[in-house]
Amino acid sequence: MSTISVESLQHLFPTADAIPESARLAAPIHQRVSLVNGELRSWDGACKTVLSPVCVQQADGGVAQMEIGSYPVMGEVESDAALDAAVQAYDSGRGEWPTMTVAQRIACMQDFIKRMVAQRSLIVNLIMWEIGKSLADSQKEFDRTVTYMLATIDALKELDNGNSRFVIAEGTIGQIRRTPLGVVLCMGPYNYPLNETFATLIPALLMGNTVVFKPPQYGTLLFYPLLEAFRDAFPKGVINTIYAPGAVVVPHMLASGKINVLALIGSSKVADHLKKQHPKSHRLRAVLGLDAKNAAIVLPDADLDLAVKECLLGALSFNGQRCTALKMLIVHRSIVEAFLERFSAELAKLKVAMPWEPGVSITPLPGLHRTAYMTEAIDDAKAKGARVINEGGGVFCKTLFYPAVVYPVTEGMMLYREEQFGPIIPVTPFDDLETALDYVTTSDHGQQVSIFGSDPVVIGELVDPLVNQVCRVNINCQCQRGPDVFPFAGRKDSAEGTLSVTDALRAFSIRSMVAAKQTESSKALLDAIVSDHTSKFINTGFIF
Ligand code: G3H
Repeated sequence: MSTISVESLQHLFPTADAIPESARLAAPIHQRVSLVNGELRSWDGACKTVLSPVCVQQADGGVAQMEIGSYPVMGEVESDAALDAAVQAYDSGRGEWPTMTVAQRIACMQDFIKRMVAQRSLIVNLIMWEIGKSLADSQKEFDRTVTYMLATIDALKELDNGNSRFVIAEGTIGQIRRTPLGVVLCMGPYNYPLNETFATLIPALLMGNTVVFKPPQYGTLLFYPLLEAFRDAFPKGVINTIYAPGAVVVPHMLASGKINVLALIGSSKVADHLKKQHPKSHRLRAVLGLDAKNAAIVLPDADLDLAVKECLLGALSFNGQRCTALKMLIVHRSIVEAFLERFSAELAKLKVAMPWEPGVSITPLPGLHRTAYMTEAIDDAKAKGARVINEGGGVFCKTLFYPAVVYPVTEGMMLYREEQFGPIIPVTPFDDLETALDYVTTSDHGQQVSIFGSDPVVIGELVDPLVNQVCRVNINCQCQRGPDVFPFAGRKDSAEGTLSVTDALRAFSIRSMVAAKQTESSKALLDAIVSDHTSKFINTGFIF
């Protein structure tokens, strides 16, 4: 962009008429149902208006967030109903779903995927309108999710086929399979509302658990087109939805003791609070993706063009609203001036526009509280001696915030430790490697780190301590979750458990086994069970 000002940003918001036909929602979506026990139950109580991050020009010359629909605001009565339906469908492990064969569950999931794919364009549009993600990235999120689901089915077949045999040890015959855990409370984040939610919901379902699903605060309506598909593809009560303020219903559901797994992609503070609500916390398994403050360490011999390109992508893809985003750049003092100059020059080339525009990088944030937080963080850094070094950095109009490169960010500033989760790039210089390492070691977060450099000795020496601080060290590339077959985990306040196509299936299940003495009568009995198909667990069938 040329000159950045509040006015220039304001002009980027369209008039309602100027929104291209292909990007519009046919009509606002006023959701008045929730899925409970296989029924779409209607709701005539209070509702919440959904405001898009996208503002439109108003008659008075200002701009305002566009209304795109509304959804129910329920309470404890409704969350009890959703939870009870999930408990009933699980039926202490005797329900239709947990006792189905793996092949039957896979067939239901394949049916669901077909129905979901039929809704692609509406869901993609809703992702874009609800959270302001670019159209291209919204499409990518949908497609990546479907690929993840198909890969999960393949992984489950492999897992189950591997267990379709008996093992004999020390005179004992055993068959070991993975079995469900019970009722899963599933909550995803707003930044990847579909992908991250389904990265836990789908494996949880496939392993035979039943689910209560609470959509994220931003990114609720996009699940509306899937409610019928959930209802029709799975037995009743297997998936139930609740639309309510998390602080009201979630601690209440946990306090009931009826939830067996908490699957949350959110903040560590919330996770800690929720876990404590369970009356027998040892019974609660937690699968958590939490806070992160991934750093990039740029060494003096780094390929500067590459480092700038990757750091820019890492810091600003989806406006920095990724848990894996680079949220602190630690650059060697000898190159920091050159780095900042090139970084700011490349940043200035990024297109700031509405999410449907081709080639757009920077889009509006989900609400005015986000631009307010970004401003507060920058003001705090400025008051403590840092400055915004790129032209226009930190200028905003309503929800549209121009990225700010802040330097030098030091201990004691909000930006040094807080996860900004937005378009601010804090940069700090370092002289010796210990200082850079110390930043990571003393951090409360432990997800990933990036290192940029070319000396095998230095990189090697850095990798060894870093792999014991975080769960992925990226060499000369930004931090990221994918490919989804790789383990996605974190230490300290960043995660609990590991997610990946295969790890998630393990996270939502437990091994259970049958065992018998290796006697003639046991062999005959097991043989009869297998050949007469009297058990779904004891079988040697192969899923193709
Ligand atoms: O917000 C966290 C996402 O899982 C990050 O995924 O690295 O592929 O953007 P990503």
